[in-house]
Amino acid sequence: MPYDFISLDKLEKTGIIRLQRPAALNALNHQMIKELEQAFMEWEADENVRVVIITGEKNFAAGADINDMLDFDPEQARAFSFHQCFAQIEAFPKPVLAAISGFALGGGLELALACDWRIADKTARLGLPEINLGIFPGAGGTLRLPRLIGAARAKEMIFSGRPINAQKALEYGLINELADDALAEAIQTAEMLASKPPIALKLAKQCINQAFDIDGMKANHFELIAWASCFATRDQKEGMKAFIEKRKPEFTGT
Ligand code: HXC
Repeated sequence: MPYDFISLDKLEKTGIIRLQRPAALNALNHQMIKELEQAFMEWEADENVRVVIITGEKNFAAGADINDMLDFDPEQARAFSFHQCFAQIEAFPKPVLAAISGFALGGGLELALACDWRIADKTARLGLPEINLGIFPGAGGTLRLPRLIGAARAKEMIFSGRPINAQKALEYGLINELADDALAEAIQTAEMLASKPPIALKLAKQCINQAFDIDGMKANHFELIAWASCFATRDQKEGMKAFIEKRKPEFTGT
């Protein structure tokens, strides 16, 4: 499928998605969201892609496109929702990293929140300014942000609409790393993750995601079943054998 608002690249086993609408600071429109859904669908089936990075041309994304939303009625707003796309990214069975430079605002920050790992550089400004538009974050922000940084700080960001810089985002636990070059650092992290056993990574991600949605007993049970199923993989034998033989494991994803 041809993409108009994103571009896709592969670097070894890392897939890189660039949001590419620089004149509007990568403001997310309906087509861009559909293109993201398509890209993640393609790469879910692609064994050669083990990790995905989302980044943006100059900026990450300054939110949903306000021009598109101006005249929405509630039904149109629901149809415009990014929930499906961001849930697809959150549930994607491989690690997804966000490499953030410049603005990551509103739906742009909510996109980063759906990723597993966020790396920003000093230029990053992260915030949820929707309140200043008479709305509030509607693409998972009221759920994922408090889970990540706690309700008090999430309320501070959502009620005030004030963006924070990367240093503060690091202190809040909103980003994992503050780097000189967000994309270069994300590529290094992705290469490290691409060398890990994909099935164990996928199951660990599912366990962590589930842990927030189900009670402790069920979460433990789910973890036990997922963990035990690692022993059906060649990668488990390889990982343990390599340890015993004092060599580096070669994981094949089987
Ligand atoms: C549409 C946008 C945009 C947006 C920027 N642009 N953000 N267009 N929607 N979210 C456009 C501007 O209109 C302008 O276009 C160009 O990008 C450059 O932006 P400037 O404002 O001139 O740049 P600057 O002065 O540097 O200010 C940068 C900024 C500001 C602080 C990021 O653009 C801004 O406040 N943007 C809106 C941020 C926001 O409120 N995001 C939340 C959206 S609601 P022209 O044509 O004039 O050059 C949301 C809901 C999510 O995300 C849930 C949805 C389901």
